[in-house]
Amino acid sequence: MEHCLTTTDLTIDEIQGILADAEHFINGKMWKPKNKVFIANLFFENSTRTKCSFEVAERRLGLDIIPFEVSTSSVSKGETLYDTVKTLEAIGVQLAVIRHNENCYFDQLIGKTNSAIINAGDGCGHHPTQSLLDLLTIKQEFGSFKGLKVAIVGDLRHSRVARSNAESLNRLGANVIFSGPEIWFDQDMAQHGQYVSIHKAVKEADVIMLLRVQHERHEGGRWDAEKYHKAFGLTLEREKMMKKGSIIMHPAPVNRGVEIADSLVECGRSRIFKQMQNGVFIRMAVLKRIIEQFERGERNGNHHQ
Ligand code: CP
Repeated sequence: MEHCLTTTDLTIDEIQGILADAEHFINGKMWKPKNKVFIANLFFENSTRTKCSFEVAERRLGLDIIPFEVSTSSVSKGETLYDTVKTLEAIGVQLAVIRHNENCYFDQLIGKTNSAIINAGDGCGHHPTQSLLDLLTIKQEFGSFKGLKVAIVGDLRHSRVARSNAESLNRLGANVIFSGPEIWFDQDMAQHGQYVSIHKAVKEADVIMLLRVQHERHEGGRWDAEKYHKAFGLTLEREKMMKKGSIIMHPAPVNRGVEIADSLVECGRSRIFKQMQNGVFIRMAVLKRIIEQFERGERNGNHHQ
């Protein structure tokens, strides 16, 4: 694996391999690179989970992290993303974990720099490591994906998590359905599953995956929190209608009392904090695969040997 940009780029075998490697790490397996590896985490959008869990994963694997904060870097003097990555590469950084508000920002880097790129979220586009950690959480619960009904509910249009999960879950044989405000359901999502009422989604799903309302990406006015919760949120009443054995997921950050009732965030069905735990092991597994490719000397230009 040369980069990790979208779930679409990953074969089913690669996805299953990453999930298996993550399980091995959970069970205490150790792995370290043969040589020193320098890595930088470039977060042009805010993050708690993804940034911190990448850092924990990197430290567990013994990587050398080059501290990089957008606000104190030369980005503030107008340096472009491309020149920033080229600069880091010139001084020896081999891997860049990048979150950026521009959809497919990585298109300007791939083939033009030698750095391995791990996409930590691009605008409304993709969030591959979030999808992988969600897949691991579902696999731990149900063993496989075939025939599972997964309802993705909420701000579908603006959610890179929804896009990555709908694509990967579909390919793995799950039956994906969508709910939430219908204006946020578009053709892009329709290729992966049907839009259903919130009532049907809650009653039929094995997994309810809730999404945050991303006000920062909306052009119109704000949704009233109380109205949204009543119309599309996982209320206490709706949770009672869920199937036996079904689970609740949310990529977080959670707006308690909006997409999910406050007391359900940590209820017996909730796997929200489990998802975060799994994030560290999935990110270790992704980093391992990319570094193993350096070590085999298979990267373009053999720059890292
Ligand atoms: N789920 C997720 O990407 O969270 P952060 O924005 O905190 O990284």
